[in-house]
Amino acid sequence: MRSHYCGHLRESHIDEDVSLCGWVHRRRDHGGVIFLDLRDREGIVQVVFDPDTEAAFQLADEVRNEFVLAINGRVRARDAAAINPRMATGQIEVLGKEITILNRAETPPFQLDEYSDAGEDVRLRHRYIDLRREEMQSRLRLRSEVTHFLCSYLHDAGFIDIETPILTRATPEGARDYLVPSRTHPGEFFALPQSPQLFKQLLMVSGFDRYYQIAKCFRDEDLRADRQPEFTQIDIETTFMSEQEIMEFTETMLRELWKTTIDVDLPEFPVITYADAMEHYGSDRPDLRFGLPLVEISDLMKEVEFKVFSGPANDDGARVVALRLPQGERLSRKNIDDYTKFVGIYGAKGLAYIRINDIRAGTEGLQSPILKFLPDDVVAAILQRVGAVDGDVIFFGADKAGIVNDAMGAFRCKLAEDLDLYERDWATCWITDFPMFEQDGTGNWTAVHHPFTAPTGDPDAMAENPGATLSRAYDVVINGHELGGGSIRVSSLEVQQKIFSVLRMSENEASAKFGFLLDALRYGAPPHGGIAMGLDRLIMLLSGTSSIRDVIAFPKTQTAACLMTMAPSEIEAAQLRELNIKVDKKG
Ligand code: AMO
Ligand code: AMP
Repeated sequence: MRSHYCGHLRESHIDEDVSLCGWVHRRRDHGGVIFLDLRDREGIVQVVFDPDTEAAFQLADEVRNEFVLAINGRVRARDAAAINPRMATGQIEVLGKEITILNRAETPPFQLDEYSDAGEDVRLRHRYIDLRREEMQSRLRLRSEVTHFLCSYLHDAGFIDIETPILTRATPEGARDYLVPSRTHPGEFFALPQSPQLFKQLLMVSGFDRYYQIAKCFRDEDLRADRQPEFTQIDIETTFMSEQEIMEFTETMLRELWKTTIDVDLPEFPVITYADAMEHYGSDRPDLRFGLPLVEISDLMKEVEFKVFSGPANDDGARVVALRLPQGERLSRKNIDDYTKFVGIYGAKGLAYIRINDIRAGTEGLQSPILKFLPDDVVAAILQRVGAVDGDVIFFGADKAGIVNDAMGAFRCKLAEDLDLYERDWATCWITDFPMFEQDGTGNWTAVHHPFTAPTGDPDAMAENPGATLSRAYDVVINGHELGGGSIRVSSLEVQQKIFSVLRMSENEASAKFGFLLDALRYGAPPHGGIAMGLDRLIMLLSGTSSIRDVIAFPKTQTAACLMTMAPSEIEAAQLRELNIKVDKKG
């Protein structure tokens, strides 16, 4: 049916007869001559119909945007005045001789060129049209290139692609499970995997040594721009490798991926401990494309009268930090008020600041609502510690450490975005030495990563003081996004049992939920570890978009629904009966 893709035609095809198939991108009637821009996945070419070819001309007159056509014609050079250097095919056009209308199209809900006016809901509802856009096509093709690269890279490095079940038991990664009722076991449910974690560990026990999988994962959690309920991981597990070796391997793979796909040399991946990341950036996924570190000043604030600062300064679970914004003089009062509201979203009760007008003039040269509460020597010490110079604004956060970290960490990123303070396009790092456990609202310990992560140090000390135990986990962070996470796993039965007991899981519960894992650990489990990277986030980063919905063919909305298929949907009574399920919407 087709001799060439529309987008492939060039000057070298001049005088060739071609058969093209595609969609009408645009139709223009130029007094007696009709121009059709014909589009396929490779691009757009201009096809011209003149009244000499009467039948074709009449059909060309009839077609509308998004009609599907087959066209025969001859490639010719464009007149010099008509050359379009912005189009890959802009040097040539096709003189159309025959048209077949393969299918008609109603007026689409939005024109491809005007998609941004349409709103994301309309685009998601008619995703098959949205995906016709060149931008979406190129993102999904990049995605295909990336998976192709990674599969062959991992294959060449001796990794074996093994599929793991989708209908399974709960695999705890900290989110709610998606459940699937079992018809054959009334009242019982499968859980969709939050990750293939336990299966990949068992494959190591089986001796496969190096496993990978492009794995679908399912998590019922609150959605954000970089989270979907259903997403894809590049999942990796290895035997007899240390965390340094796994990190090095991953780093080399990412570096080669960036180079191959977008011709970027990623910078060094500094290794930053969790504690340092929280102290300096308020986040365990710091964006290092810019500076603006948080500077600890709790020690300077212990004695001051200003309770807002001295309270947290004297509280172990709290902190006082300063953030120096160079050339902050450009911020208006209104800007600062808006930022005060912004940090409020994260629970901060205020956003104190000092403007540095003339540092040599002492306090006279400063401007701030809090100067009256702070002795001059304390102010001088702050300015010295943050390295203040004229024109700066110093901001302050004081509260429980969690609130300060969330609020000032997000504020740091907001300032960089609003004022374009990025110093480089790419910034990567590893975060290590995570705490093994954290306390939930009720004071119970939960695993910071998953409970199969190996702790550092003595397991008895861990059981005695869970809060002080670090784990052998590592996260890879790019431009402020957690791209991936992994760890060395527990390969000792006793240690795994100790972890479950810290998590207040009785032996019965542990054996009901994870008996198969505990059993496997009895029969010769090798030391093993791995990592999983979010493929959607990776493509989002590579393609420079800010939402993972832009790199998923058929994504879900913020409320975890599919606007196109209208899933989830109600189920017929007969099907529910078969599954022994009664629905109680009030419940
Ligand atoms: P973790 O839970 O950190 O680790 O997930 C690994 C990576 O998967 C991506 N990711 C997501 N992407 C989109 N939407 C989501 N809802 C979502 N949740 C996670 C992130 C994240 O870094 N089994 C462990 C890995 C291991 O220990 O080997 C795990 O799943 O990019
Ligand atoms: P107030 O005494 O509450 O009027 O606060 C004086 C200044 O301190 C204002 O600029 C507030 O925005 C700021 N402020 C109040 N609470 C905090 C806090 N917890 N952290 C940082 N700044 C604060």
